[in-house]
Amino acid sequence: MNEKILKQLEGYETVKADMETAEKYGADFNSEKGKVLEYIHRLHPATMRLKVSRIIQETPSAKTFRLVSQDGYLPPFQAGQYISIIFDISEIRTSRPFSISSSPTQTGYYDITVRRVENGLVSNYLLDTVKNGDTFESSGPCGTFVFNPIIHDSTMVCIAGGSGITPFMSMIREITDCGLDRTVYLFYGNRELKDIIFHEELTRISNDFLNIFYIPVIENVSKDFTGACGLITSQLLNDTLKKHSNKSFFLCGPQGMYDFCLPQLDHLGIPKRKIRQEVYGPSVDIFDYPGWPKEIKKKDTFKISVKGRSAIKAAAGDSLLSSLEKNKILVPSICRSGGCSMCRVKVLSGKVFQPAGVPVRASDKQFGYVHSCMSFPVEDLEILV
Ligand SMILES: Cc1cc2nc3c(=O)[nH]c(=O)nc-3n(C[C@H](O)[C@H](O)[C@H](O)COP(=O)(O)OP(=O)(O)OC[C@H]3O[C@@H](n4cnc5c(N)ncnc54)[C@H](O)[C@@H]3O)c2cc1C
Ligand code: FES
Repeated sequence: MNEKILKQLEGYETVKADMETAEKYGADFNSEKGKVLEYIHRLHPATMRLKVSRIIQETPSAKTFRLVSQDGYLPPFQAGQYISIIFDISEIRTSRPFSISSSPTQTGYYDITVRRVENGLVSNYLLDTVKNGDTFESSGPCGTFVFNPIIHDSTMVCIAGGSGITPFMSMIREITDCGLDRTVYLFYGNRELKDIIFHEELTRISNDFLNIFYIPVIENVSKDFTGACGLITSQLLNDTLKKHSNKSFFLCGPQGMYDFCLPQLDHLGIPKRKIRQEVYGPSVDIFDYPGWPKEIKKKDTFKISVKGRSAIKAAAGDSLLSSLEKNKILVPSICRSGGCSMCRVKVLSGKVFQPAGVPVRASDKQFGYVHSCMSFPVEDLEILV
């Protein structure tokens, strides 16, 4: 670079003097050793130790858990990201991802907000057993369900279902905390009025901020609710948004919501490139998933031979990852929804069913690797972990 320009940069003279000294006498970088790695580890820790500092009952079926660091430092995150928390429940070591619902401006804690899933192992454990002071190990913040000003329009149409509100809550809190130049239309679907998480806060925010529009939608008509009832239809979107150009669509919720809402967006002519969706885990019932071999029933079991270890029995409909965990064979996992490829295992023989859309790399396909969180045995298998 031209020296004339360099001279205008702050600190130029100091850096130049340091370089001249180093050139003349040599330089001792020992004191700097490991500093870059230390910073990288602080920003992107492989694991974090977290402690529950507060529990907030949000609705009859959902609680917020405020998590503080036991290491004295929480890495920054982007609104929309999640952490994967490790649990030891009934002698099973497993993990689940939970989106951070607090704002990235809150640097002292992460909130996660958990809704009960019927017969769900972890959600029921969190809601019924976990108390203040309990500790967990977790991954650092992960995920790409975030607003990117280079790709996305500054008007976001967010469609949430049930616990899928959490990443949007973080985004909306950040927008209002920082006064960001972004407009949000939040369509939030729930079965009943009592199920709506953050209803009061969202109502207050939409009253106070001209750029946040909150449209709660409940499925079961209620006399106590004056808002929209039913489902989030193309007509409701059309009536509220008027025009759809220059808007990016973000969806987060259970599989049933995608099954209904994606065709509605298609009906409105929203191009796929304008739609971003967070995957919230496997289909509720894999036996109903299109393409599932109908001859395989819930009562069926398969033998999984794990190379170098003994064989295990896997129930049909359980993901390979879940069957391995139940048999104390640990496979690293983060997203548990097919997106991060942490849980890859190699299938040496036999067949697995994989729901459509799991992004498996071409080289993985070629060499027989699958994402065990989204692979369901349909034959006896031999695998390499
Ligand atoms: C990126 C990401 C972020 C997430 N963030 C949140 C969050 O902020 N808050 C939150 O409450 N959950 C969140 N989840 C879902 C969460 O990780 C768990 O899947 C959920 O709590 C159920 O776990 P479980 O152990 O209770 O159920 P499991 O024992 O794993 O499952 C029991 C049964 O319920 C079905 N099931 C699993 N998940 C759901 C679901 N979400 N809705 C309906 N049925 C289901 C399963 O197919 C199974 O039949 C997130 C998931 C992902 C992938
Ligand atoms: S845990 Fe992320 S792909 Fe399986």
